[in-house]
Amino acid sequence: MTIAIILGTRPEIIKMAPVIRECKRRDLDYDVIHTGQHYSYEMDRIFFEQLELPLPEYNLDVGSGNHGLQTGRILVEAEKVLMAERPDVVLVQGDTNTVMAGALAASKLHIKVGHVEAGLRSLDRRMPEEINRIVADHVSDYLFPPTEISKQNLLKEGISEAKINVVGNTIVDSVYQNRAIASRKVNMLKELGLDPKGYFLVTAHRAENVDDRSRLGEIIRGLELVGSEFSAPVVFPMHPRTRKMVQEFGLHLDGIRAIEPLGFLEFLQLEAESRLILTDSGGVQEEACILGVPCVTLRDNTERPETVEVGANLLVGALSGRILEGVRGMMDAENGWRNPFGEGRAGEMIVELVGS
Ligand code: UD1
Ligand code: UDP
Repeated sequence: MTIAIILGTRPEIIKMAPVIRECKRRDLDYDVIHTGQHYSYEMDRIFFEQLELPLPEYNLDVGSGNHGLQTGRILVEAEKVLMAERPDVVLVQGDTNTVMAGALAASKLHIKVGHVEAGLRSLDRRMPEEINRIVADHVSDYLFPPTEISKQNLLKEGISEAKINVVGNTIVDSVYQNRAIASRKVNMLKELGLDPKGYFLVTAHRAENVDDRSRLGEIIRGLELVGSEFSAPVVFPMHPRTRKMVQEFGLHLDGIRAIEPLGFLEFLQLEAESRLILTDSGGVQEEACILGVPCVTLRDNTERPETVEVGANLLVGALSGRILEGVRGMMDAENGWRNPFGEGRAGEMIVELVGS
């Protein structure tokens, strides 16, 4: 049994780490194929180092580009490697261009595909991620939805129940495995001069938010309002896409502490100690919910409705007034909610199911 793990972006490295660890623990024959969709040190290599992952056997070096270019390059290059390696199964995770192209390349070569984090739906087809998820799910042979809700999405689209196993989300494994390590190895509050529960943490990088001048301007204005109403620092480790667009649009970040993207250990610690998180990231919505920190999501919809249902997350869109109102409403949310994403054994379960 040989396994190829195709990944290419920050969240895929973090969420595949438990699967890679499990392959290693069982001494399985596996290869990691990195597409090179993310390539900056702080978006890529830092996670291999911090999570002590073996470096990928292949790097396809596709880099950035429009959807057609990036997806096309991954298809061409992944196909070459898969034809040479002929693994029994390819595993992909999530909803990026890497995932769609990797799954498509494998399925056209009649190699079985396993989709980790299958079945998420925002029901918003303007999001590139929604198209990627749908395609990946429909060419997959093993589907690993994190929750019952995501399983139901797959069944509604006619995907056979025999292919589906609810395993939880591997992000729970990653959070549990790295919380204590973060406490031992980093002290971000000291480094940034922050008090526990005395600051807001922000991330934003969704194309529909940051590539639109007026939406990005409204989000920044909303963050300024939040910082000034609660007299608390607003810390914003900024995704390179967002940094680029802030510069291109000539926007000013008054009252916001914009910093470089952080390693997972540093970011996890900042999340856990923050008063409230504002984000448009999928993974960050989940992590806030798992860590018991209230979350305000800068979007009109979410493919993680479980977080809203348990009371951990509120969708506010991208208008400054609504962002402030949302933060007022969530500041004192009772944080005893249930973690809907599983027990932290998803990595083991996935490898067990694929390997048997
Ligand atoms: C991609 C995914 C998104 C995911 C996100 C995780 C798609 C369509 N989008 O978005 O679903 O949530 O990754 O972070 O697959 N850049 C760098 N260094 C890098 C990578 C990117 O500077 O290492 C800059 C480049 O200017 C690039 C831009 O960021 O043009 C966008 O990168 P891209 O991979 O196209 O999309 P993301 O916004 O990262
Ligand atoms: N993350 C990180 N450093 C940062 C910001 C985020 O390590 O500065 C991690 C975060 O903990 C989460 C993942 O990156 O596990 C989320 O990735 P991102 O928001 O880029 O993508 P999405 O989840 O929206 O696809």
